[in-house]
Amino acid sequence: MRMAGERIIERLRNQIFENIVKQDIEFFDRNRTGEIISRLAADTVVVGKSVTQNISDGLRNGIMAVVGTGMMLYVNTSLTLTMMSIIPPIAVAAIYYGRILRDISAKTQTATSHTTQVAQEKLDLIRTVRAFAQENRESHSYATETHKVYQLSMKESYAGATFFSGAGFAGNFVAMAILYYGGSLVAAGSITPGDLTSFFLYSTYVGFSFMGLSGFYGELMKGIGASSRLFALMESKGEVEGQSSQTGIKLEKVTGRIEFKDVEFAYPTRSDAKIFKGLSFTIEPGTNVAIVGKSGSGKSTVAQLLLRFYDPSKGSIFIDGIDIRSLDGNHMRNNIMSFVPQEPSLFATTIRENIAYGRSNATDQEIESACERANALGFIKKFPQGFDTYTGEKGVAMSGGQKQRIAIARALLKDPKILIMDEATSALDASSENLVQDSMSQIVMGRTVITIAHRLSTIQQADFIVVVEDGRVVETGGYDELVEREDGKFRHLIDAQLSS
Ligand SMILES: Nc1ncnc2c1ncn2[C@@H]1O[C@H](COP(=O)(O)OP(=O)(O)OP(=O)(O)O)[C@@H](O)[C@H]1O
Ligand SMILES: [Mg+2]
Repeated sequence: MRMAGERIIERLRNQIFENIVKQDIEFFDRNRTGEIISRLAADTVVVGKSVTQNISDGLRNGIMAVVGTGMMLYVNTSLTLTMMSIIPPIAVAAIYYGRILRDISAKTQTATSHTTQVAQEKLDLIRTVRAFAQENRESHSYATETHKVYQLSMKESYAGATFFSGAGFAGNFVAMAILYYGGSLVAAGSITPGDLTSFFLYSTYVGFSFMGLSGFYGELMKGIGASSRLFALMESKGEVEGQSSQTGIKLEKVTGRIEFKDVEFAYPTRSDAKIFKGLSFTIEPGTNVAIVGKSGSGKSTVAQLLLRFYDPSKGSIFIDGIDIRSLDGNHMRNNIMSFVPQEPSLFATTIRENIAYGRSNATDQEIESACERANALGFIKKFPQGFDTYTGEKGVAMSGGQKQRIAIARALLKDPKILIMDEATSALDASSENLVQDSMSQIVMGRTVITIAHRLSTIQQADFIVVVEDGRVVETGGYDELVEREDGKFRHLIDAQLSS
């Protein structure tokens, strides 16, 4: 039974995790990581235990109760019926108690998940906490959460104590009744003292098994309480249909033409703030395009829509003339595109594994060549362990610029038809940026590159510039052409950057 319980926990965890990683990105906007982790770690244990350990206890107690009652009926029917009169009130109390336990259990699991969430978030940001000297405040906020869990378990203890002492009291009352009534039967000579003794022993036996059964019932209710959120996690399906599923068209030969057509979009978690109000632009195959605009104008959102992390509320996005909603999302991200995020983070493993993340079968030579083009080879080779250097949790053991270059190498290794770089050079110092820029001509060869850019240097290299403002494209054209427009939007952006 113990082994079966562990197996159930293992399966629950695997199934739930599998379902979680396939959720839409929106799911992760709505749910906090700490909470999800706690559901995986703690709720699964409560549920697994409640199903197995308890079922064996429950079965044993159930059999004991049936056998004992049978023996009692065999010895004396009217005494048995007297004793049975205790069952209805206890049953009512048990149902009530079970409900309380179920609610408390659900609340306890939620409170536990909040403690994990707080701990995770504060430890994630430990450098900020330390820099602002807020250690005591964070300890205090964690203590507030753990205290809630403590209070709930106190409540559970009270409920248990009330129920079991009530049941114990009723049991003693019944024992007295049996002795009294049984005694009068013996005096009247209808049963022997021996029968009364064995009846009494049977009834204690049954009494204990009933206690066991109510314990089982309580644990079961706790399991049910903990399971409700868990099953919700297991069943919830993403709304962006097929965001990570593997159905739809698999584009094999891609030229890399991209078109945004009248795209309207608001983030699902902030549906009243429209980011795009009819965004349209076209990128020809093989061009190097820069998307520019003020901070918060939605440049990174363009990348997220193209990767189909979200779907536009109106309008469409096409790759080679095909609406990306009809493409196999998994195949598209795996084979057509690569993405360098604005704030690249690394997995807690070696540099080699981080780079080969999207193509685990890449050869050392391919990895080195990708690093060379991303201008990462130099600094990687300087580490004593080279490519086997451990990057640490979230890549904290790497500098911002190093992380970015590793992320660029990771994207290039996939040799994608479409490369999306979200300000990929913003954390690089001028000289290493120049080096990346120099290799840009190699990077862009044979593919469509979208650079979401702030800096002049990245913009100058672009074949085409798209200026986004107020949810629309306000200007497009080549660098020289746009710079010369006296009152142009692009000109304004450039002037602002130069004067700062
Ligand atoms: N996951 C999200 N949920 C809700 N709103 C978001 C989300 N991500 C971004 N936003 C909002 O969308 C708007 C556009 O954000 P976006 O990141 O696209 O801007 P940006 O142009 O990339 O800015 P920057 O130049 O500073 O990187 C901002 O107002 C931002 O607050
Ligand atoms: Mg951005």
